[in-house]
Amino acid sequence: MAKKAPKIKAGTPSIYVLNGPNLNLLGSREPEVYGRDTLADIHAATVRHAAGHGLAVEFRQSNHEGVLIDWLQEARAEAGGVILNAAGFSHTSVAILDACRALDRPLIEVHLSNPFRREPFRRRSFVSEAATGVICGLGATGYLLAIDALAELLKGKTA
Ligand code: DQA
Repeated sequence: MAKKAPKIKAGTPSIYVLNGPNLNLLGSREPEVYGRDTLADIHAATVRHAAGHGLAVEFRQSNHEGVLIDWLQEARAEAGGVILNAAGFSHTSVAILDACRALDRPLIEVHLSNPFRREPFRRRSFVSEAATGVICGLGATGYLLAIDALAELLKGKTA
């Protein structure tokens, strides 16, 4: 039976977990690269893990650059910190970099795969230029480690 997430108190700081294009296909998309976990599996695991730190999670995915930017802007007001897997946009989007720079909140960049072991064009991430920290190559575990890092960074702060 699945473990139940601990209850979150009202007023708990929230973490935005934002996922970019094609991550809705996780589980069936190139499983040899991205693993067999679906985005729903990662969502459930992050909510559970964050609850253990007393943090609430707002978990979203979009295939659209502008939507991700709108959510990053929303996170400036609503989130204590952000975990971002901008997927392919990591390597192309100055506009997402600008939104990350404007965030003014701790930002952990996550990639399931290790882009440095892949094609050369994946070695550049615009998001990394604004990220507090970067976790890659550890599959879904990377999201949980990012929550641990944010929990540490947010200690003593309220959202
Ligand atoms: C990814 C890595 C990116 O290079 C790729 O475009 C993705 C997923 C990852 O999580 O490993 O879509 O961000």
